[in-house]
Amino acid sequence: MSNDVNKNYTDKELASMSQSELAQLGTELDGVTVAFRKERFPLENDPAERRAARGVATWLTISVLSGIAFLAVYLFWPWRYKALGEDGHLWHTLFTPMLGLLSMVTVLSLGIAVLQYVKKFVPEEISVQRRHDGPSDEIDRRTVTALLNDAWSTSTLGRRTTIKGLLGAAGVLFGLVVVAPLGGAVKNPWRAHELDYHGDGTLWTSGWTLHEKGVKLYLARDIGTTADYHESPTGSHYTTQGLSRLVRVRPEDLAAGGMETVFPLAEEHVNDGDKFNPEADVYEEHMHSIHGPRNPVMLIRLRSSDAERVIERQGQEDFHYGDYYAYSKICTHIGCPTSLYEAQTQRILCPCHQSQFDALQYAKPVFGPAARALPQLPLTVDEEGYFVAAGNFIEPLGPAFWERKS
Ligand code: FES
Repeated sequence: MSNDVNKNYTDKELASMSQSELAQLGTELDGVTVAFRKERFPLENDPAERRAARGVATWLTISVLSGIAFLAVYLFWPWRYKALGEDGHLWHTLFTPMLGLLSMVTVLSLGIAVLQYVKKFVPEEISVQRRHDGPSDEIDRRTVTALLNDAWSTSTLGRRTTIKGLLGAAGVLFGLVVVAPLGGAVKNPWRAHELDYHGDGTLWTSGWTLHEKGVKLYLARDIGTTADYHESPTGSHYTTQGLSRLVRVRPEDLAAGGMETVFPLAEEHVNDGDKFNPEADVYEEHMHSIHGPRNPVMLIRLRSSDAERVIERQGQEDFHYGDYYAYSKICTHIGCPTSLYEAQTQRILCPCHQSQFDALQYAKPVFGPAARALPQLPLTVDEEGYFVAAGNFIEPLGPAFWERKS
């Protein structure tokens, strides 16, 4: 920016100016006036200055030491996976927290050191820069453009085609190096794998889709069993043999007005009641069912007086079993678990954004952002008196996606 500062100093005059006078001239040439400036420690050998220096040095030392410790942990810590009960399990579980803690201390103490240095040693200063209205003067614009062009031509890059090409390629590759790791997050949502408790990988399927393959699916509750700890002369270990995480549900297991979260359980993985086998190990399959992203279902037992007022959805009139109704727990808004059932109002509530669904009207939304009813699972009871799915869901579960019709 052009201003009224004298720019016509001779070499002799410039040579006779002190560093601070030159610095002041530089700021004035930029249209900046230093209105106030005060040294932090004007007296030499001030004990306060030595204390401040020690403080900054301490933080920098902490940063350096934790940086070295971070590298040591990263390179030498026993990070390989060890299951619960195996030797080294504790060390393995501490690996990531140690990296997080040490990197935090390194960055934080460096930041504190820089802040302290600026606050304690850099002079206090108030500067004012004059501003002008409208665009810069023609002379400033032309000279800045000329300077940029000059920098480009004196760099000789324009005529060095090989270096220019390599530089461009390196720039593109650098961009790819940054972006490429994100590619691992991109998945084809239409690529199907073999159907299991997680569905076949497409958005239309879930563990309940196994019913379409002829698999008998029980409605089972999660009883939270964990692996058994065994001690023996040869060593200790955990086992899941003979344990059942999911157990089948009967109508009498629910009180009127109650709600239970249930998951699909294939007949071959049942290990309770008269099918209990202490040798069977089905725990992992049960966990797959529990972790299936679209598997949780709310089994609701309406009170008889409420059940008399139910309005069935067309085409789903026989989906319920007496006073029992089963709805997908995955909210049709953006997929939170709609875990709350209020028996007084017969409303199902999603805690994420407060959508409410009317359990007396096929779980259609009556409040909040959800726009579609919760899909209903057809229910029945088998010859032994356990709840089983009478079919798969007839519409996709959870939030909307491009291809869905409903
Ligand atoms: S996810 Fe249920 S209301 Fe938003």
